[in-house]
Amino acid sequence: MTDMTLAQNTSLLPYNTFGIEARAARYAEVQSADALREALRQAPHPVLVLGGGSNVLFTRDWPGTVLRNNIRGIEVVRRFKNRVWVRIGGGENWHTFVQWAVAHHLGGVENLSLIPGSVGAAPVQNIGAYGVELKDVFVGLEAIELATGKSRHFSRPACRFGYRDSVFKKAEKGRYCITSVTLSLSTGNHRINTSYGDIGKTLADMQISNPSIADVSAAVVRIRTAKLPDPARIGNCGSFFKNPEVPRSILEKIQQQYPALPHYGLPNGTVKIPAGWLIEQCGWKGKRTGNTGCYEKQALVLVNYGGATGQEVKTLAYAIIESVENTFGIQLEPEVNIL
Ligand code: EPU
Repeated sequence: MTDMTLAQNTSLLPYNTFGIEARAARYAEVQSADALREALRQAPHPVLVLGGGSNVLFTRDWPGTVLRNNIRGIEVVRRFKNRVWVRIGGGENWHTFVQWAVAHHLGGVENLSLIPGSVGAAPVQNIGAYGVELKDVFVGLEAIELATGKSRHFSRPACRFGYRDSVFKKAEKGRYCITSVTLSLSTGNHRINTSYGDIGKTLADMQISNPSIADVSAAVVRIRTAKLPDPARIGNCGSFFKNPEVPRSILEKIQQQYPALPHYGLPNGTVKIPAGWLIEQCGWKGKRTGNTGCYEKQALVLVNYGGATGQEVKTLAYAIIESVENTFGIQLEPEVNIL
């Protein structure tokens, strides 16, 4: 049996990138699947598993147990002609893993550089950036069911990935801890993806015409550092809202008044509109209320300037949703898990 002690009345402030103070009645970090099972045997419910805490907003104390997934390890588990499968512990830091892949000349995750959070949290919202989503390299994952301690494998179809979405945000929400994720990375003939406008422009600024995997990663790090606040300095959870997908008729209606409205057509005939643009038009960009506000360089990001409560951030978020709805008739949906 593994040694396991559950701490009492623990502050969660260091464990969420928003930097919100909330307390857990019981708390433990688990380093292995066995330790997790042991913790689950002892843990008062409800149980919440935290990874990097980069997609959660605490608006109240957690009445049961918070378990922090600290299961580590990066291992090549299969080799093919031009690919390898890599299994990564759910508690590994996502960007540390990306740096490992880049250092080993393995392609596929370089566009996802510098995304905060853990590997185990990556499939939950199918992290994505600069034209790539986790699902593009995903093979499968191992998870432990919190109610029973049983292991379960999820294939790619079983995860039901969508835009910032998966089965772990819907039918299976809060029911599993993801202990490892297996990804397929290329070892040769890697197709660099610089289709997203900002990347091409940044590589040109860096005077790179034939980019390597490491160059693309460096460009993404440069863009993100310039646009997004560093959670170690200003509390935040990245994009607070999803970019809305609307029927083309809504787009055309808004375009009559705002011809410059940016948008991207989707294969299903609908269009995606950047929520950051809608929020900026409503006058929220850079606006501060108390200890919280809408980030000055990217309106999609809400920030904690220090000492904000989760309730304050939530109130701001819903004021933004209401104002965008009143102005454009579009209802924004939070991407962050509000607890
Ligand atoms: N825009 C504005 N004002 C703003 C922000 C954006 O007008 O304050 C408009 C601009 O027209 C810009 C367009 O929105 O061209 C797109 O902006 P950006 O490239 O910054 O991307 P985004 O749509 O705002 C999404 C993701 C980010 C991801 C970037 C790059 C979502 C919810 N967010 O943001 O993901 O890094 O694309 O791929 O899809 C995250 O999920 O936490 C995240 C940061």
